[in-house]
Amino acid sequence: MTSFSTANATNPEMEPLFAPFKIKGLELPNRVVMSPMSRYVSPGGIPPADFAAYHRRRAEGGVGLVMTGATGIARPASNNDPNLAVFHSEALPVWQDVVDSVHAASGKIGLQLWHAGSVWNRDTDFRPGPIESPSGINDPWLPASQGMSENDIADTIAAFATAAGTAKAMGFDAIEIHGAHGFLIDQFFWKETNRRNDKWGGETLAERARFGIEVMRAIRRAVGPKFPLFMRISQWKAQDYSARPIETPAELEMWLGPLADAGVDLFHCSQRRFWEPEFEFSEMNLAGWAKKLTGRASMTVGSVGLTGDFFHRGQLRHAALDDLIRRLEAGEFDLVAVGRALLADAAWAEKIREGREAELKPFGREVQETLR
Ligand SMILES: Cc1cc2nc3c(=O)[nH]c(=O)nc-3n(C[C@H](O)[C@H](O)[C@H](O)COP(=O)(O)O)c2cc1C
Repeated sequence: MTSFSTANATNPEMEPLFAPFKIKGLELPNRVVMSPMSRYVSPGGIPPADFAAYHRRRAEGGVGLVMTGATGIARPASNNDPNLAVFHSEALPVWQDVVDSVHAASGKIGLQLWHAGSVWNRDTDFRPGPIESPSGINDPWLPASQGMSENDIADTIAAFATAAGTAKAMGFDAIEIHGAHGFLIDQFFWKETNRRNDKWGGETLAERARFGIEVMRAIRRAVGPKFPLFMRISQWKAQDYSARPIETPAELEMWLGPLADAGVDLFHCSQRRFWEPEFEFSEMNLAGWAKKLTGRASMTVGSVGLTGDFFHRGQLRHAALDDLIRRLEAGEFDLVAVGRALLADAAWAEKIREGREAELKPFGREVQETLR
């Protein structure tokens, strides 16, 4: 049982969510994290000037750690949409404004670093350079073709490390590596998209984890031992929402243990519904298991405070947080990522803390259309 300070919340039931948390040198005022969410508003990869105010509003609204959406590292096809933000070249001054703006509001901000691999956008067919992936495939049912060369792999690892070093120098408070949802790092993890028989592939997850491990090691070298590094992981893939490559806790441990050793301080475990058990014999979710098996911190996500999941169409309202709070209080996970509810209402955290649930703005698809 974790013990929580009662100083921060005015609604006593929400105290566990508003207890401070420390990870490496980073002191967070509470457990609410804005989940990484890409916004399709960055033509040519350059975020708009009002990104600073958009992120700052969440900090002002009481979010403990504001995460950016996925940002493409400096590889030609790291980004799979012409309107998604990158984290290199001319985009960097805008990101500096975002960091400064959040800090000016006494907030904390983390950066999500990403490489799409071979998940491309079928609507735009945007391919700014050669597509990079372990075995030249996105869809599991296609035959493998030319995958990344040794040079491509080395350069991609180096690009992750450079981006991380830059982010730290700019003042970001944490970095999350996108190792989930079937994008590049996850394409190496997943046997359906990694058909290599060299040292970057293999029959076991432990073998296929090598690329992710090397990315983490290089990043850890770039940012030093004290900087908080998160990794986002998931069972599900954009290519197959029902994918379940991990079937037992032992497999999960074999996968995550070496990643923890390589430098991951916190596993951000992506589920669409946080209350769903990972294995049938326990009610614990993926974040619970990641924490238990690695001893690292973990973050849960998935329909927190909303009456419907990611695929739901139509208006969603506030859903009670009792089960979330119970799990947090029991120490199942440490942080809670909130996605769509925070797009709908920048003051979500503040309103929850103050027991003003009735004032929360509902979520509908239209809230994704503007930077509100
Ligand atoms: C508009 C939108 C963009 C998203 N972009 C990203 C992203 O860039 N990186 C990522 O890891 N997840 C992304 N996600 C997934 C969210 O981080 C989160 O896991 C998901 O929305 C479930 O949380 P929720 O139910 O609280 O919304 C996105 C979700 C939405 C709604």
